[in-house]
Amino acid sequence: MNPFSFYLVTDTHYFEPSLGCSGEAYEDYMKNEMYCLAESSEIVKATFRVIAEDKETDTIIIPGDLSKDGEKESHKSFVKELQKLKDAGKRVFVITAGHDYNDHPRGYDDSGFVPVEGTTLDELYDLYYEFGYSDALSVDRQTLSYVAEVADGIRMLAFNCDSTNETKGLIDERLQAWAKEQIDKAKEENCFIFAICHYPIIPSVPVFDLVGDAHVKNWRQVASFLADNGVNLALTGHMHIQSINEFYSDSGNKFVDICTSCLVGSPAKYRKISIENSETVKVETVPVPEFRAETNGLSTQRFFDMRAETSAVNRINRALKGDGMPKKVARKIFNGKTLGQVGRMLCIKVDKSLKDKKFTTFAGEIARDIFLGDQPYVKGTPEYDAVARVLKRFKPIIKIVQKKLSKDGITPNLSEMVLNTIGNNKGWSDNDAVVKLK
Ligand SMILES: [Fe+2]
Ligand SMILES: [Fe+2]
Repeated sequence: MNPFSFYLVTDTHYFEPSLGCSGEAYEDYMKNEMYCLAESSEIVKATFRVIAEDKETDTIIIPGDLSKDGEKESHKSFVKELQKLKDAGKRVFVITAGHDYNDHPRGYDDSGFVPVEGTTLDELYDLYYEFGYSDALSVDRQTLSYVAEVADGIRMLAFNCDSTNETKGLIDERLQAWAKEQIDKAKEENCFIFAICHYPIIPSVPVFDLVGDAHVKNWRQVASFLADNGVNLALTGHMHIQSINEFYSDSGNKFVDICTSCLVGSPAKYRKISIENSETVKVETVPVPEFRAETNGLSTQRFFDMRAETSAVNRINRALKGDGMPKKVARKIFNGKTLGQVGRMLCIKVDKSLKDKKFTTFAGEIARDIFLGDQPYVKGTPEYDAVARVLKRFKPIIKIVQKKLSKDGITPNLSEMVLNTIGNNKGWSDNDAVVKLK
């Protein structure tokens, strides 16, 4: 096989601006939202312009959450942008996901939320027919999964597991049987085959293993099924995070999941990926280009990061809402104290470089950096030490929570999971890497 390079862009969450994105309800909603809405069309257009100009790479793959919330007008406008890529000589392959159909589609104006026309699953097939399905060797109409030859001797197994309530987030037995047929056919015809899926197959960071919607529900079984059948690579999205993870099946076969960030929200990256041969994949991370001359006086990256930091703090405050005394106290500490003051309250040592940092600033930065990948707070950093000491202080409570989270006789080690989530201890980068598939 010849090397094959392509762009992987995901979670474009395109919103048609004429549907309205202003007013008090919009401002209120955006306080907790991590990605951009009013700016999404400009971001998508600017990124696609850069991709269209790259003469080395003629393929773009987008694994779902194409629109904000399934607004029909957003899809129609997004399709026009995909068509421009095609007109520039590119091949485009997409799958759709939960945000692409009937997921409370609405606009925003001074009167509040304005309901707008949504999109059904069947309509998605027609809307995106030219961007994957028309080239498909086989389509599973029940889920809108398909397989296509994306380059000479290279096939892509595109799993859509976001279709209906019963199978949401599952690559079930029926879909696996269809996939097995496609994998066998690819092997018979000497093709390399990789997968895409909206949901990460391997949890992107350890704590996401505890979040039901953060990965394919039966992820261990699916990763083993794919690895044992010779599909060693999946490209995913959904969690809006940069991560590269590996998993080994009981038979010792390796499976790699490359998850890419949301295009229109922090960290606002996409990937240029090159499958060099059946064992080696080169991954390069590209930042979203400047999409506006002026982004509130901030650099493009800072503009995205600010949204991530403030929305993380607002979400924590939302969780701490309530009149009960414990929540009132927690709110006061979270919003009013520095790390030095919190350290004194808990009788734990906080490094002097962190003492004057506000608790809210610290929380916002940690949240931002988790999604950026290559999480910097590894053992030996003041941040790691502070979090490790807090976890130790709350050990009795953590023990009780761990017991409650036990499943199939396995008790998660919460402290270790948290520490491996804030610091990348994997030994490779989540952003730029040469990945070995075997
Ligand atoms: Fe998304
Ligand atoms: Fe999603």
